[in-house]
Amino acid sequence: MPEGIATTTILPDNQLSNQKKVYIKTYGCQMNVYDSIRMSDALAKVGYSEISDLADADLILINTCHIREKAAEKVYSELGRIRKLKNARKDTDRPLTLGVTGCVAQAEGIEIIKREPAVDLVVGPQTYHRLPEILAKTAPGKPVVETEYAVEDKFDHLPLPEKKRTISRGVTAFLTVQEGCDKFCTFCVVPYTRGSEVSRSARQIITEARNLCDAGVREITLLGQNVNAWHGEGLDGKSWGLGQLLGELSKVNGLVRLRYITSHPRDMDEALIDAHRNLDILMPYLHLPVQAGSDKILKAMNRQHTAQEYIELIDTVKRARPDIALSGDFIVGFPGETEEDFSATLKLIERIKYAQAYSFKYSMRPGTPGAELENQVPEDIKSERLARLQALLNEQQLQFNESFIGKSMDILLEKPGRDPKQLIGRSPWLQSVIVDASVGKIGDIVNVTITEAGPNSLKVVGA
Ligand code: 5AD
Ligand code: SF4
Repeated sequence: MPEGIATTTILPDNQLSNQKKVYIKTYGCQMNVYDSIRMSDALAKVGYSEISDLADADLILINTCHIREKAAEKVYSELGRIRKLKNARKDTDRPLTLGVTGCVAQAEGIEIIKREPAVDLVVGPQTYHRLPEILAKTAPGKPVVETEYAVEDKFDHLPLPEKKRTISRGVTAFLTVQEGCDKFCTFCVVPYTRGSEVSRSARQIITEARNLCDAGVREITLLGQNVNAWHGEGLDGKSWGLGQLLGELSKVNGLVRLRYITSHPRDMDEALIDAHRNLDILMPYLHLPVQAGSDKILKAMNRQHTAQEYIELIDTVKRARPDIALSGDFIVGFPGETEEDFSATLKLIERIKYAQAYSFKYSMRPGTPGAELENQVPEDIKSERLARLQALLNEQQLQFNESFIGKSMDILLEKPGRDPKQLIGRSPWLQSVIVDASVGKIGDIVNVTITEAGPNSLKVVGA
């Protein structure tokens, strides 16, 4: 799942003086954003309010990402900074509790406390529903580490999103339908940090979607590390696939847009492709990572398909939904990647034409098979290849955006713009569209004609 530094929307900080205050910092992918919201909801039940000022918190949680070395290392510098704050509050009537959650917590467990003794609790992603109880057990000098996979399903225990809290978070929402991954790509830590694939039931998902829409949510993005491998219990008690689930979700009152992220090519089945053909509510956008364009590298990555199979799959999806925007993830410099292999990736990109993409230098992750491979690619070669790859992807993204100039589209108004006279909307193809605030209010779908396009957004001037 694509990641960057993510933020959660927080309730206003006013009049919270009597309550305990939690500050949650979220790194990584959308699933961490979703998890942070659910942790905040669980903590609200035991009297915590979420705030946006770290220095005023009673509890600080760092929700972490382990996907690449850089992401994991950031956590320790952050913890070091918080240690100083914690020390300053040590003998006051407001001691500070510090927790690490997410994939670094899962992967490193007790090692985190050995490296940073200021940490009071370490909680893995499968135990978030027990956070209030774990917190109650935590005492100064007695850190608690909980990274076991719980026997119970955390989603049976986490509170459903509350109406008042959901309203404050806006008209778009994430909803986790599946966690974990059984694909074992040789570069990836996810099967180890998030565990094997677990799908929530259709009933649970539909209840949560209804709940979100009752609170004014209009667009839901279904989340999963391998979302199109979703195979939960259907409403009829039989096993369903994602295509069928999307069909059922399309009936939820108030919901006008559906998306899902992130998928594996091997799990794009016919029912899902049909959903793109038949469901208007399903937005014409597909994030389908390929990682590399050389069959030799795809094999070494254990991606379980060839470049040609990926191209044919995209062609099939395009026949079902000709206007679909394509997005992907790429890794450059996987061990053994030659200039010729890299050229095959560029060739594949030229052939597919991406609307948007994420690209990374290969990062060696301890415990994954990729870390054991010989002929690791030198850092300077990785950097040089990444620059070439990103130049091509940026060019394609700009071309894609420019193709909409003069065209009209429905956009969902999502949030205020930086300029108070503007609003930011979202196109069906996931582009940000900057419009004049007079076109409508947040939550409306309005039809606009695009006048300008840049690499990262579209604009409507003079509407
Ligand atoms: N090095 C670089 N990129 C990686 N990703 C996953 N593991 C690694 C790694 N070890 C990228 C993949 C994946 C995205 C979420 O992160 O492209 O699709
Ligand atoms: Fe990681 Fe591969 Fe699973 Fe994606 S499909 S989460 S890259 S192991």
